[in-house]
Amino acid sequence: MIDLEPIMISGKEVYPLIEGGKGINASDGRSAGAWAHENCVGTFSGVSPDFYDAKGNVIVEKFMKRIRPERHEEMIDYAIRGGVAQAQVAHEVSGGNGRVHMNMLWEMADSERIIEGVLEKAKGLINGLTCGAGLPYHLGELASKFGVYYYPIVSSARAFQVLWKRAYSNFQEFLGGVVYEDPWLAGGHNGLSNAEDPNQPQSPYMRLVELRKALRALNLDNIPIIIAGGVWRLDEWKDYINNPDIGKVAFQFGTRPMITKESPISDAWKKLMLQVKKGDVILQRFSPTGFFSSAIKNTFLEKLMNRKDGEIAFKTEADNEYTQPLKMSETKTVYIKAEDMEKANRQLNAGLSVIQETPDNTVVFMTPEDWKQMKQDRAECVGCLSQCQFSTWSRAKGTTGKLPDPRSYCIHKTLYDVGHNGSIMDNLVFAGHQVYRFATDPLYRDGIPSVKELIEMIKQGK
Ligand SMILES: Cc1cc2nc3c(=O)[nH]c(=O)nc-3n(C[C@H](O)[C@H](O)[C@H](O)COP(=O)(O)O)c2cc1C
Ligand code: SF4
Repeated sequence: MIDLEPIMISGKEVYPLIEGGKGINASDGRSAGAWAHENCVGTFSGVSPDFYDAKGNVIVEKFMKRIRPERHEEMIDYAIRGGVAQAQVAHEVSGGNGRVHMNMLWEMADSERIIEGVLEKAKGLINGLTCGAGLPYHLGELASKFGVYYYPIVSSARAFQVLWKRAYSNFQEFLGGVVYEDPWLAGGHNGLSNAEDPNQPQSPYMRLVELRKALRALNLDNIPIIIAGGVWRLDEWKDYINNPDIGKVAFQFGTRPMITKESPISDAWKKLMLQVKKGDVILQRFSPTGFFSSAIKNTFLEKLMNRKDGEIAFKTEADNEYTQPLKMSETKTVYIKAEDMEKANRQLNAGLSVIQETPDNTVVFMTPEDWKQMKQDRAECVGCLSQCQFSTWSRAKGTTGKLPDPRSYCIHKTLYDVGHNGSIMDNLVFAGHQVYRFATDPLYRDGIPSVKELIEMIKQGK
């Protein structure tokens, strides 16, 4: 057994065990409610959550409006309806136990409107709000307005200090905790800063000690640190529990709860996760948000990795170095280095006959089918992000003013699809780097456990 005393989270004494929020539809009211039911904390995702018709069937998102700003409004309307629906489900399933949190991707366009819309209509059903991917400055103010606790997700003490100084110091009462998410190990988007090397993972220990020091310096010693990213068995975290240098902690599980009876992901997705091998999760930077993220290497990711590998630098005018003409279209020729000619020809000969420019003075190669799909995805954009590198949509300005990046993809389309029984090979499948442990973990030998069974195991340290 692990010495896990209940602690105060979002105004109630609960076990310091949390299911992390996972969009789109990879954690919902059913899974969050099941965690809360066990006197722990469940987090449903507020990113395009499901909502239901009068018979209780999921209404699959359909965007009817012709222009993007109007589709964007449809998306917000759906997100608010979905957030309220999932809060209701979570509350019912919890039986009033534990705590229910909602997670929001801060980089979503109009995330503040969505949060506000949900909190207004789901009063009393949501106890906490977690927010990552970006620096959620307004989170404190927004949550405090509704008397809801808030939990910024950070990957360093420095990020929290910035948030505190610029925004949270005025909203101390409802700061429920700080989620420290390991930027090298966690599933989903990862908060690696420019100063950190994606290939040089650091142990969380000293980073957590630093975070606690920073909290103490701000008189926030009572605030729990929620450790996320790479948490599987708690007997591996004994040194972090009741450790005066780290202080009060809770643990957030993202990947492990995905294979439970209550987890909303498809059976095919669960099956894939049971078979993943060490090294099959890739930390990469293809997300249209510009953040790093961690996902399972499948057909979808391999295509992006190959496209990136085939990338070639060019200039619009020939010079001593860029000597070789490369015809991009009937009207446009660029110049590449002689040493890249073979790389270009290899791709052209393999049928990657469409050449597209990136915002970094490089070109990439793709098949006509992939190019057609890319154009369609851009045309169907619903403006889900505040700034999108794939489509150049910008909520504030209409466009980012940059070239659309063909090394990226529409994250809304692919996550919605995989979250609704879509292909697990042709979509982005987020997962933490420990996902390979499912294959050897005895808990999954005799089938899929319930959330209750998983939590029992976690409490035993296993
Ligand atoms: C499929 C998947 C989707 C995720 N989506 C989100 C998200 O929308 N917002 C967020 O803040 N974190 C998201 N996360 C991160 C989790 O909430 C959690 O912090 C993380 O997975 C913990 O690391 P672990 O995967 O090693 O357990 C996601 C993780 C996964 C695996
Ligand atoms: S193209 Fe970009 S902004 Fe538009 S829906 Fe897709 S990910 Fe969102």
